[in-house]
Amino acid sequence: MPVNILAIESSCDETSAAVIADGKILSNIIANQSVHEQYGGVVPELASRAHQENIVPVVDAALKKAGMVPADLNAIAFTQSPGLIGSLLVGSCFAKSMALALDVPLIAVHHMQAHVLANFIEDPKPAFPFLCLTVSGGHTQIVLCESPLQMRVIGETTDDAAGEAFDKSAKLLGLPYPGGPLIDKYAKEGDPFKFKFPEPQIPGLNFSFSGLKTAILYFLQDNRAKQADFVEANLRDICASIQHRIVTILLNKLVKASQETGVREISIAGGVSANSGLRQGLKEYGEKHQWNVYIPKFEYCTDNAAMIAMTAHYKYLAGAFSPLDTIPSARAAF
Ligand code: KG4
Ligand code: ZN
Repeated sequence: MPVNILAIESSCDETSAAVIADGKILSNIIANQSVHEQYGGVVPELASRAHQENIVPVVDAALKKAGMVPADLNAIAFTQSPGLIGSLLVGSCFAKSMALALDVPLIAVHHMQAHVLANFIEDPKPAFPFLCLTVSGGHTQIVLCESPLQMRVIGETTDDAAGEAFDKSAKLLGLPYPGGPLIDKYAKEGDPFKFKFPEPQIPGLNFSFSGLKTAILYFLQDNRAKQADFVEANLRDICASIQHRIVTILLNKLVKASQETGVREISIAGGVSANSGLRQGLKEYGEKHQWNVYIPKFEYCTDNAAMIAMTAHYKYLAGAFSPLDTIPSARAAF
């Protein structure tokens, strides 16, 4: 009998549902929430309401695409943490109700662990142990993975996440939220060496991005004082230079992590791993340092339920089920 699992992701502003059968993703439906654009960031209450509107049609579409009905499911998985608590509550309540109604086990999944396991959705898959640079809007971590469910954070940001560094820089440039993909778009046509931004000297494997944000703020203030249309006239070069600095901060720490652990299987995950500069940079560093590099397909980098389903698959095999009184949590280590 195949094991069919429905997974739900609702930690931030994407409502997503996926179906996995014996470790193979059959569907991955994602509904984005455009309602936040005008506010320059995700508004938690609006996100919860949009999840409530989206969840039934998204689950319905995921089941239909997989050619299944609810009775075919053997377990229901959901993102338990971390995330916006109202958003997590919508997904967890839905998942628990469905597990109760179908009398199948419930599987609670950690969102950051799922980002790492997005690397296992398609071939080639990293061999254990491997390092994963997980970079999203809320997290920046280097994770040492010993097995699908055994992971340890060996480096993380001490202030802003890499995604925040992208989004806050974009905001300073007057670009709408989320600015990361827009910086990426303009950077493609700009000179990454035109403007120099500092690389913070943080000991060990930890990161810091708040100094970079301040440096960009002063850089823009100084130049705007001299030339009113400085940003408009140099947007592509500014974006390319900011992106270059963020990407080198990330990759230089990965080099250190690889040297310290002796691990040369290197992967990336999380929303920022969709960045073309990071993807290209990882390939170049990989050749230089003789790494085997793994980059998930674009749709599995930003928030999606396929990665929750992949994690649930391993948890199902390990018998790691959760009671129906499991509650979501805005913050939780894994
Ligand atoms: O993993 P994710 O979808 O959601 C969180 O769990 O946070 O990551 C969202 C973050 C945002 O900060 C967004 O700007 C960033 O990923 N992002 C990018 C790109 N695509 C998404 N940053 C830079 N370049 C991109 N192409
Ligand atoms: Zn995420």
